[in-house]
Amino acid sequence: MCGIVGYIGSRQAQDVLISGLAKLEYRGYDSAGVAIRNGTHIEVKKKAGKLANLSTLLEGKPLEGTLGIGHTRWATHGLPNDTNAHPHATEDGRIVIIHNGIIENYLTLKAGLMERGHSFKSETDSEVLAHLIEEAYSGDLYEAVRTALGQVRGAYGIVVTHVDHREIVAARTVSPLVMGVGEGEMFLASDVPALLPYTRKMVFLHDGDMVVLHDDGFRITDLAGNPVERDIEHIDWDAEAAEKGGYDTYMLKEIYEQPTALTNTLIGRLHDETGEVNLDINLDPASFKRISIIACGTAYYAGLVGEYLIEQLARIPVEVDVASEYRYRSPLVSENTLAIVVSQSGETIDTLEALREAKKHGAKTLGVINAKGSSMTRELDDTLYIHAGPEIGVASTKAYTAQVSAMLMLALWLARARNTLTDEQAKELLHAARELPRLVEEALAPERVEAIKAVAEKYAHARDYLFLGRGVNAPTALEGALKLKEISYIHAEGYAAGEMKHGPIALIDENLPVVVIATESFLLEKTISNLQEVRARAGKVIAILSDGDTANAVHADDVLYVPRAHEMVSPIVNVVALQLLSYFTATALGKDVDKPRNLAKSVTVE
Ligand code: F6R
Repeated sequence: MCGIVGYIGSRQAQDVLISGLAKLEYRGYDSAGVAIRNGTHIEVKKKAGKLANLSTLLEGKPLEGTLGIGHTRWATHGLPNDTNAHPHATEDGRIVIIHNGIIENYLTLKAGLMERGHSFKSETDSEVLAHLIEEAYSGDLYEAVRTALGQVRGAYGIVVTHVDHREIVAARTVSPLVMGVGEGEMFLASDVPALLPYTRKMVFLHDGDMVVLHDDGFRITDLAGNPVERDIEHIDWDAEAAEKGGYDTYMLKEIYEQPTALTNTLIGRLHDETGEVNLDINLDPASFKRISIIACGTAYYAGLVGEYLIEQLARIPVEVDVASEYRYRSPLVSENTLAIVVSQSGETIDTLEALREAKKHGAKTLGVINAKGSSMTRELDDTLYIHAGPEIGVASTKAYTAQVSAMLMLALWLARARNTLTDEQAKELLHAARELPRLVEEALAPERVEAIKAVAEKYAHARDYLFLGRGVNAPTALEGALKLKEISYIHAEGYAAGEMKHGPIALIDENLPVVVIATESFLLEKTISNLQEVRARAGKVIAILSDGDTANAVHADDVLYVPRAHEMVSPIVNVVALQLLSYFTATALGKDVDKPRNLAKSVTVE
């Protein structure tokens, strides 16, 4: 996550850039910077910290010019200091770029560039883009950017200027870019709110699009240079709707952001060729004899999936605790214990105190965290950021799927160090992980969403709900129940399916909807037996089945199909249907899903 703004027209660019960046600060505030072209040179000003620091720097001595680019940073590679702040310029200052995303192969590219005489100022992956463009440039900026992008692997929203050209060249893959069309002026931004004060005519660029902006128009092509047509859309959202990306609620927006969030979690960390994961963690994965996972609520359920994955793949004992219990139960900890805390906010007091408890007893500590620079990250030995972007809806959705994918990567990291997987097994799992953004995108296909909405509305007036799942999807059932109760206020319980007969079965009657997660698994037959037990007692079965499983559909009152996925990644794909089921149940009941009663996004009291 970073925020990008570009402007070409007749206004003073600095004003447009600063007002746009202010609307994008939610995307990161590690540093901010602008570059403005003024006749014979491009002037760059940048500063670590929030946008206010840059504004102070510019106070009284504004940059003059009507073409400019600006950036607010969420650091991935390199410290959040002035040097690593964007924009990045070539040594002669003639080409200036800003970038949102991660260039996966930047180390190889950088080594090559250095051999060929380029020298680098920053530690960022982004700076290689400026040098690659410089190397490819021979009078045509668009062609140089196109050639440079042909060499990079990864995610990018990139915006480029050259001192000799009154034009801006931009491109995107994964990272968002929207273009604003004005009268004699053109705009670019990572998100709509930055452009709304200036124009309502917008073009949403697609993956693989390149665009050249002039004062009076634009030209879009693909990366091969072929012309591409994109519609100009009229955006009639008010400012609040724009922040929700046109969705009715933040929660729905965040559910739909999951393919991108997952890409950002996984990118640059999986190496299919070798079967290795590169998590850049300063701890020795071979040194641990025991793992302790500590978290609250939804993050705790991500931890439960983590327990399953780590024990299965890395064959190391794992225990998972809710943080509020861990702290007071005199946990057995040694210096061979790795305590993994999972937290979206990095501020939850129960988890923070549990982290301190683990540290006090000598554990090494690692965080799976979303919020940059949060309290936990300052006390952890190391942090694996999930890069899901800000989560504003109180009910966690994209942070959960990103946390689970981080747990999978940690399981692989430990497994490789402990030699518990063959190269082939590791590669198969890496491949399954790489497929996740696509599978989650498929899970959000309109016809599936419609089917889920219909089922949600059918049972919206149920008094109770039961969720069942087995194995790696037992925690999915718990998360499904939590999501439903917190936003719809319907009482819901989640159980391991095999446990139902030991008590909850007494609840079953014709009024009880029972969601059974029965996707492809070595335990599927057993889950189907549990499903039959519900049927036999007249319970209403809502079966979550893998695409194509018509044989088991006959046992259910309602079926929700989900894309087929490797069992080890299936919790991430399956939970999407449950998030939407809760969402549409709550909206059918008229509840405020973004701000459910009695809850807070970050719980900083014990
Ligand atoms: C539920 C939810 C909460 C949080 C929990 C921990 O949808 O969001 O259960 O998961 O309060 O919060 P973090 O992850 O910020 O520590």
